[in-house]
Amino acid sequence: MNRVAIPHTLIQPLPGDRLQRPLHDLRISVIDRCNFRCPYCMPEDQYAQDHVFLAKDQRLRFEEIERLARTFVTLGVRKLRLTGGEPLLRRELPELVRMLARIPQVEDLAMTTNGVLLPRMAPALRAAGLQRLTVSLDTLDAATFRHLSGGRGEVDEVLAGIAAAEAAGFAHLKLNCVVMRDVNDMQVLDLVERFRGSGHIVRFIEYMDVGTINGWRGDLVVPSAELHARIHARWPLAPLQRGYRGEVAQRYAFADGAGEIGFISSVSQPFCGDCTRARLSADGKLYTCLFARTGLDLRGPLRAGADDAELVEAIAARWSQREDRYSERRAELRAAGNPEKVEMFAIGG
Ligand code: GTP
Ligand code: 5AD
Ligand code: SF4
Ligand code: SF4
Repeated sequence: MNRVAIPHTLIQPLPGDRLQRPLHDLRISVIDRCNFRCPYCMPEDQYAQDHVFLAKDQRLRFEEIERLARTFVTLGVRKLRLTGGEPLLRRELPELVRMLARIPQVEDLAMTTNGVLLPRMAPALRAAGLQRLTVSLDTLDAATFRHLSGGRGEVDEVLAGIAAAEAAGFAHLKLNCVVMRDVNDMQVLDLVERFRGSGHIVRFIEYMDVGTINGWRGDLVVPSAELHARIHARWPLAPLQRGYRGEVAQRYAFADGAGEIGFISSVSQPFCGDCTRARLSADGKLYTCLFARTGLDLRGPLRAGADDAELVEAIAARWSQREDRYSERRAELRAAGNPEKVEMFAIGG
């Protein structure tokens, strides 16, 4: 491998993008496949006919992911999150976790999964050094769950995955629930009730117009304020301070001490001003926004033998030019013609 020392002047956090946002988080998609077909992400009828998933040699190898992660760390990244598609479909994933957990400056190593494979994988992930887990869970209702997984999953499998994660030592899971009007919004109180007092944190995510194929419509979004009012009427809530700069969820504690919940309101209350997240797709492209159209190819230079300094320079140049704020400009950009965007399953949310 062609590696030279990184010039001293480059080993420092980046000054920030054009909107003064530092680079702090890297979300790494390890695979573009999924064992679910959630209609808000990968609707079966939209992508199926001619979609070609990445071939094995198109995906970054673990060594390549590690090398890029180390490069991002030299530029200020302190949080890593593994995503997919469904990350647990990537073979030997605990090995990648082990490699990333060894990077000294990484303060937080987490993963977002649909949970179905956790009964098999949770102990190995924990042993490999994964610190935190987020599990997607949109409803407790069996029929609605089937619909929201595109007929590919059962809610009991995810509940078994959550139990396996607990048993493996993952405390305080985050449980992500994408809310769609007249689909699962009437079931949010059941979710809250089930996990109040469990130590896990349910977060309600406004349905977003990620990608181009999910048929998003504004009237299917349930604004967080509406959900908050419904939950608050049943179990009074008190706002909590933001945990860290750039946190996407607004947090609330149950007034009776039964833990907390969160709302991710990217549609009704965009949070681009504090967005410190970069995304790396499974084929090695750097995306600076969840709603981006294109990414910067890092696999090409990596495989052509670029040294560390060249990679640092490419990433730094891209970040310093960044001015993405899609969610704040959603109305204006959609009015101008819905721009084509990368699909959620290709960059992992
Ligand atoms: P922690 O707070 O570190 O636990 O993680 P997180 O909340 O950033 O991670 P998670 O993957 O659970 O994010 C929750 C969801 O929020 C994602 O799946 C996305 O749907 C949404 N989200 C995360 N980051 C962004 C972002 O930068 N922009 C927008 N619009 N949505 C985001
Ligand atoms: N809107 C909001 N959240 C979404 N997710 C996937 N697609 C969407 C969408 N269109 C969420 C999933 C999961 C995470 C990876 O992203 O539910 O929690
Ligand atoms: Fe659903 Fe996540 Fe799979 Fe997309 S990647 S289809 S949101 S489980
Ligand atoms: Fe960041 Fe883009 Fe999401 Fe805004 S829309 S918070 S810039 S990822």
